[in-house]
Amino acid sequence: MLTILKLRKKDKNEKRKRNVRFSCLPNKWIFRRKNAGFKVMKICISTFKGGPGKSSIAVNLAMTLPGDYGVITNDIYSPLETVLPVSRFLKIGRDKKFPRLPDNANIIYDLGGYIDQRTTGIIENSDVVIVPSLPEFLDLQITIDSIAEIQRFNRNIIVIITKTKGNEFSMACKVIRAFYDYLLLELKYSRAFPSIFEEKMSIQAMCAKGGLKGHHYKLVNKQFNELISEIQG
Ligand SMILES: Nc1ncnc2c1ncn2[C@@H]1O[C@H](COP(=O)(O)OP(=O)(O)O)[C@@H](O)[C@H]1O
Ligand SMILES: [Mg+2]
Repeated sequence: MLTILKLRKKDKNEKRKRNVRFSCLPNKWIFRRKNAGFKVMKICISTFKGGPGKSSIAVNLAMTLPGDYGVITNDIYSPLETVLPVSRFLKIGRDKKFPRLPDNANIIYDLGGYIDQRTTGIIENSDVVIVPSLPEFLDLQITIDSIAEIQRFNRNIIVIITKTKGNEFSMACKVIRAFYDYLLLELKYSRAFPSIFEEKMSIQAMCAKGGLKGHHYKLVNKQFNELISEIQG
């Protein structure tokens, strides 16, 4: 584990910054760093495949991390507006440019589909790239292809195997490990994720509220907290 973390740090330091051209920010987009004392980060969540939980992870991170994170997505069908205030999300339509952002903006990019000219710079300039994957063999194959493409631009990658049941995580790890050494985390199959949108609350907040749901979501909340401590380094 330590070796992987060291490798990731080294890769990050060696990261070549590329000039990215962004369009201007829309007026509604507000960035404020209310609290001092937290790390400013650009977090990217990316994979070619739809459905492994990119948007759910993005929203739960934005609701849980301190620092007024905004979410930017190229998925115009993403249900972000149902849970995030208008000042904290931005949908970028097909062929539209991503905005240029202040350095002190905490941003989570939720990027679906293939990597294109618009997204390579974002991936390259992110502090960490999260690649979620379903545990089925065909999905893992797509994840392996996604990582091959993503690591050309950023090698500070965390792979998350999502919606796992039984021992699917260890099986999936074996497949990914045959190709890559990146940190692998698990987010089990849990009703907690659709609940984020139903309750308009982070998993952590639902757990804090207690009750039956809070109790049931404890395990996946713990798994999510592992992801948070990894990205906060
Ligand atoms: N770990 C999980 N367990 C159960 N359902 C999940 C999990 N992660 C996501 N989901 C559900 O799967 C569906 C797709 O998730 P979503 O975040 O929209 O994926 P993506 O953005 O990658 O297409 C949603 O209905 C979501 O609630
Ligand atoms: Mg999505």
